[in-house]
Amino acid sequence: MTQTVFITGTSSGYGKATAQLFLERGWNVVATMRTPKPDIFNSKSSSLKVLPLDVTDTESIRTALDETLSTFGVIDVLVNNAGIGVVGIFEATPMTTVREVFETNTFGVMATTQAVLPLFRERRAGTVVNVTSSVTLARMPLAAAYTASKAAIEGFTGSLAFELEAFGVKVKLVEPGYGPATRFASNGAHRMEGLIPEPYRSFAEPIFASFAKPVAVTTEWDVAEVVWRAANDTTGQLRFPAGPDALALAQSR
Ligand SMILES: NC(=O)c1ccc[n+]([C@@H]2O[C@H](COP(=O)([O-])OP(=O)(O)OC[C@H]3O[C@@H](n4cnc5c(N)ncnc54)[C@H](OP(=O)(O)O)[C@@H]3O)[C@@H](O)[C@H]2O)c1
Repeated sequence: MTQTVFITGTSSGYGKATAQLFLERGWNVVATMRTPKPDIFNSKSSSLKVLPLDVTDTESIRTALDETLSTFGVIDVLVNNAGIGVVGIFEATPMTTVREVFETNTFGVMATTQAVLPLFRERRAGTVVNVTSSVTLARMPLAAAYTASKAAIEGFTGSLAFELEAFGVKVKLVEPGYGPATRFASNGAHRMEGLIPEPYRSFAEPIFASFAKPVAVTTEWDVAEVVWRAANDTTGQLRFPAGPDALALAQSR
């Protein structure tokens, strides 16, 4: 039977590529995004369903799940990909920004997972793939709030794996490296304004210079391929670094 994947944050970047890859490989794909743009996939396939979903809005999660079940009858894999970033000095980061990042990256993942779990538990099958970041593999400056939001999901996922094991439900982490080709930096640019106060400037400048000349980067296809691997994994592996820079960090740990 054709399998169904439900993905958050598919309007661009890693989520969009993941939706495309699963579609090409014959799955039913529920590509959710805050503002649906069905044409971005150039596909008229009945295997593709584009639905509105904001991970900070529980009602929109419920509505998207109900619509998915009435279209495909089942969800086999949930990919929690939606995420936002903030880079800057923590002292200067307003708590409203910290909370905004956690609402999406942490509580949004938890809320979507909690909504899907009864379906998985009752079927005694299903896989949750949580997209975190390689910032959880090695400490990175100027990313305290963002790292905290993703590290929380690493801890959450590791613990959840135990309580779901008896029901045949799997939980995985995909840890992508730095992907400058996605909309991640431009989507977060407004959040970073004013976050490098003068006393920290000489500290931050060389770090921004090093961001501009990365030794290795991650592409959206690196991530899509690793999400595919995590979704189909039968070995019990929890963590899946994605992209050459993330792999290097994982190996150096
Ligand atoms: N690019 C990197 O360097 C990098 C590195 C490691 C990990 N990651 C992680 O990878 C994931 C994908 O990021 P990306 O690089 O592909 O960035 P991206 O191009 O900005 O994609 C992020 C997606 O999340 C969506 N989103 C944001 N807030 C949302 C919300 N409240 N509800 C639903 N969707 C929401 C965005 O939708 P809108 O169009 O509506 O804004 C967009 O589709 C994120 O979890 C990110 O933290 C990225």
